[in-house]
Amino acid sequence: MKTQPSKLLPILIVFAATFSALTARAQTKPWVAPPTAKEVKNPISPEPSTLKAAKTLYIANCAPCHGTNGKGDGPAAAALNPKPADHTSAAVRNETDGALFWKISEGHTTMPTYKTIFTPAQRWELVNYIRTLSKPSPKDHQAR
Ligand code: HEC
Repeated sequence: MKTQPSKLLPILIVFAATFSALTARAQTKPWVAPPTAKEVKNPISPEPSTLKAAKTLYIANCAPCHGTNGKGDGPAAAALNPKPADHTSAAVRNETDGALFWKISEGHTTMPTYKTIFTPAQRWELVNYIRTLSKPSPKDHQAR
């Protein structure tokens, strides 16, 4: 019985080292939505009236970090690490609607969780609004 702690110690060290390596990797890895969330289809088609409502939500709630034009350059952005996503970027354009909806719902690091704040319809409309912020490029693959 007396020898057990010294036998356990190397195992604990290996475990702790592996765990901290995994956590460090998780922090530097890009934020990826789960495959099931990516496949969810957007039930709301973009209409002028709902896009207008989503723009109002976006300016009031998202622009402080993501910027009025979605470039990730809002007044709060300078203080944040990681930086708020650039909603006009190819990376965001190439995300599926389902992935963006999941990210808006769940939040990550300083990106808030909106599933308790906005209805699902409002979150889908925000996805549609984000789509209007960037111009598609022929190089984009068809993720939608
Ligand atoms: C307090 C600052 C802040 C606010 C407010 C905020 N965001 Fe974010 N957002 C972030 C940050 C930071 C990230 C990057 C998070 C990460 O990678 O860990 C992000 C990432 C995202 C992403 C993921 C983009 C991608 O493809 O990875 C989406 C979509 C998004 N935000 C939408 C929104 C919407 C819509 C709103 C308003 C309803 C909003 N955000 C409000 C800070 C914010």
